[in-house]
Amino acid sequence: MTNPLEHRIAPELEQFIRDGTYKRLNFLESPQAARVQMEGRGEVIILSSNNYLGLANEPSVVAAGKAALDSFGAGTASVRFICGTFTIHRALEAACARLVGTPASLSFGSCWNANEAVPGTLLTENDLIISDQLNHASIIDGVRLAKAITKCQTAVYQHGDLTDLDAKLTAAKDRRVKMVVTDGVFSMEGAIAKLPDLIELCRRHQAVLVVDDSHATGVLGKNGRGTAEHFGLVGEVDIITSTLGKALGGAAGGFVAASAAVSDYLTQRARPQLFSNALPPTVAASSLASIEFLEAHPERVAGLRENARYFRDQLLELGFKPLPGETPIIPVILGETAAAIRMSDLLLAEGVFVTGFGYPVVPQGQARVRCQISATHTREDLDQALAAFRKVGRQLQLI
Ligand SMILES: Cc1ncc(COP(=O)(O)O)c(C=O)c1O
Repeated sequence: MTNPLEHRIAPELEQFIRDGTYKRLNFLESPQAARVQMEGRGEVIILSSNNYLGLANEPSVVAAGKAALDSFGAGTASVRFICGTFTIHRALEAACARLVGTPASLSFGSCWNANEAVPGTLLTENDLIISDQLNHASIIDGVRLAKAITKCQTAVYQHGDLTDLDAKLTAAKDRRVKMVVTDGVFSMEGAIAKLPDLIELCRRHQAVLVVDDSHATGVLGKNGRGTAEHFGLVGEVDIITSTLGKALGGAAGGFVAASAAVSDYLTQRARPQLFSNALPPTVAASSLASIEFLEAHPERVAGLRENARYFRDQLLELGFKPLPGETPIIPVILGETAAAIRMSDLLLAEGVFVTGFGYPVVPQGQARVRCQISATHTREDLDQALAAFRKVGRQLQLI
């Protein structure tokens, strides 16, 4: 006898399979790298990882994690304000703030948590938050949560449309605090937020600007300091959230970088931090070592940019039409979800792991395979992947 929940979800799962939208997990038997060992398949080129700088298995990053395990043990065994916080967390937070160019930062168990914490903690019922239409799911849910917790007003502006944002800010004159939130790099498009215009508009309306730089930290700017560095605006963004789970070692964790007062207020009041354990010391130490590696090796960021440029140019040469851009996120739009999943399956059969994304992760009819390039892909890796794209593209009559 199944309960009502099991009764409801079992046919839904079967429908996912019939629709071709069911996600099958691929298991890896080796660390994240340009090439990995995939269970049941052998060596595969990964073209869908956020390991942008290849630091997930960088020897100094792994060694730092092991050393922290010896020094601090497995974890804090409670939340930070109750049980104490490790000195490695303080060192990490200083490094995060230094990297992105803010006076202070506070780490969280994930950037998802950081994005939940910012509006829900900092806003009140007198306030407003306006979010870009294509923001990451964690921002969307953070805004929903803030509305439920604080009764703040919420709004969405058309993607990248500063005229729409201007109108919505003008209409919200009576709101005490106005907060605007955007991805720095939009994860499904690879597009970069129009930061100079956003800063100017927010200043004019005395609004607080929050930028989620999860796909920009370690990626954009000459030294990988993010969207602000890309535009020569380091120090000009009010609040930056970012992840430690992508370019900065790829383990897990996130942070909010902001003024000392905002960081302190979040330390006092942010529920995902007050009622949940801190990052494991292994992760804090590996993340710190990743930031130190990045600071010492800006040429890794230049290599990433060069690899992304090469791959995008070659895809165009083959006749694909990737979304235009200059980040290592290179989506090829295919239309229906099943088409994206089919292409990704065929590429995997050729030894190239690229994920297909469909509705509701991206808008209906805009399913895509999303390539993500790493600084550690060799020319041989990229050329082999391009040969697979040529073969599958012809098979599917895309080129
Ligand atoms: C733009 C953006 N923000 C936040 C997150 C969440 O990061 P985390 O894995 O640290 O929770 C992601 C992860 O996919 C992301 O792409």
